[in-house]
Amino acid sequence: MLPREVRMVEVGPRDGLQNEKQTVPTEVKVRLIEMLADAGLTTIEAGSFVSPKWVPQMADTAAVMAAVPRRSGVSYPVLVPNMKGLEGALASGATEIAVFGAASETFSQKNINCSIAESLERFAPVVAAAREAGLKVRGYISTVIDCPYEGAVAPSAVADIARRLLRMGCYEISLGDTIGTATPGRMQLLLDEVVKVVPVERLAVHCHDTYGQALVNIYAALEKGVAVVDSSVAGLGGCPYAKGATGNVASEDVLYMLNGLGLRTGVDLDKLAAAGRYISGVLGRPPASKAAQALAAKAG
Ligand code: HMG
Ligand code: MG
Repeated sequence: MLPREVRMVEVGPRDGLQNEKQTVPTEVKVRLIEMLADAGLTTIEAGSFVSPKWVPQMADTAAVMAAVPRRSGVSYPVLVPNMKGLEGALASGATEIAVFGAASETFSQKNINCSIAESLERFAPVVAAAREAGLKVRGYISTVIDCPYEGAVAPSAVADIARRLLRMGCYEISLGDTIGTATPGRMQLLLDEVVKVVPVERLAVHCHDTYGQALVNIYAALEKGVAVVDSSVAGLGGCPYAKGATGNVASEDVLYMLNGLGLRTGVDLDKLAAAGRYISGVLGRPPASKAAQALAAKAG
């Protein structure tokens, strides 16, 4: 049975923009976040406190956080890989962070320069200190289906990390199909394994759309009871450490599907599409979202 209500986690201002070559001005990021909040999104990832040498586009996250007017009922999480990142997040007034690990060793090394075991050791005190300070902590796992360097990843390996992140104190675990190679059967096999150790209410799916399978994978996850879906407005995005990985599934496409299924989100499609047109205009290309393109064509 499908959930009646779905929380959409908007990752466009972070996952969407982190891979853009051109520097996106701080005020554009702030305006985008505002437009996404206007559309009714209640979780909007605002940036990352990571090394600016690794991901230059996120170097202004402190400035973005300082400029975004906080609305009640809206969370603006930031990614944090270590204690230094947590210090930045706390100084910025963040109330939610996300730690991010991987289910494959090579991807972990390429993305955060340490092994899976080291990353979990590093996250434990970060999560504890964040919670001590009253922050909510989300846990990401990348490469839950395939790794761009090692190939197929065992669902049991993903389940093991998910269990540890939950025990560490993460309130939610987002399962990342980083390179978008999943198909619905594999998504369901993965979820069958992970729900043995993490309640389905604590799971989110984070699908990149590289092979055009994201929507059907999300539907497969909804069928398994997952009610939290990550997406990126206009389908922006990609991971700098996963060559060839294209954007996240477009938020407009996800919302069009959820609306059609009669599942409540609280998000307005027209306003969301307007946010997508805004950022696509700045980047100088049309939104990757098919729903956004269709709406624009209908509007003439
Ligand atoms: P490292 O080089 O091993 O770090 O990188 P280090 O601790 O040895 O420090 C080296 C330098 O970095 C030092 O500066 C530190 O101060 C600085 P220096 O003395 O050379 O001037 N540094 C920092 N600066 C700012 N903020 C920090 C920080 N930490 C150290 N937090 C590190 C390790 C984790 C820092 C690095 O690998 C990194 O920043 N990685 C981030 C990679 C990233 O952001 N990837 C994209 C996000 S994950 C993703 O997109 C996947 C996801 O969407 C899910 C999915 O799709 O699968 C979430
Ligand atoms: Mg991602």
